[in-house]
Amino acid sequence: MDETLIKKLINLAKDAQKNAHCPYSSFPVGAALLCENGNIYTGCNVENASYGLTICAERTAVFKAVSKGEKKFKAIAIVLFSDNFGVPCGACRQVLREFGTDMDVIMAKQTGEYKIMKLSELLPESFGPENLK
Ligand code: THU
Repeated sequence: MDETLIKKLINLAKDAQKNAHCPYSSFPVGAALLCENGNIYTGCNVENASYGLTICAERTAVFKAVSKGEKKFKAIAIVLFSDNFGVPCGACRQVLREFGTDMDVIMAKQTGEYKIMKLSELLPESFGPENLK
């Protein structure tokens, strides 16, 4: 992937991270999802007083995109507020997988340092729409 585009996605994820509603965990997360047509949808985590209703940043971005008619995704950048890379949780990996296994997952630190893996590497031997046939 083009370095400029990667940086752009990370910066957009950081912008979205600022909107995180995380009064319970104090752990803001941001995501930026790149569609094959070039459109980008961002998301943040949105927590709830009923804790289990919390939604992650990645899923916010996916649901925003899908509700706009997008289903072809090229990459997603994820930023956490810690020294760790923004690895997506298992639930988000599965939700992303619904739309393919080939997307690049850009896992970034707050510093901008990042690593990239394919979704298929993060969720091998996965269950998807094809398995229902
Ligand atoms: N969180 C995300 O937004 N994405 C992930 O992949 C991991 C966890 C959020 C959920 C919760 O609001 C906070 O981080 C702490 O778990």
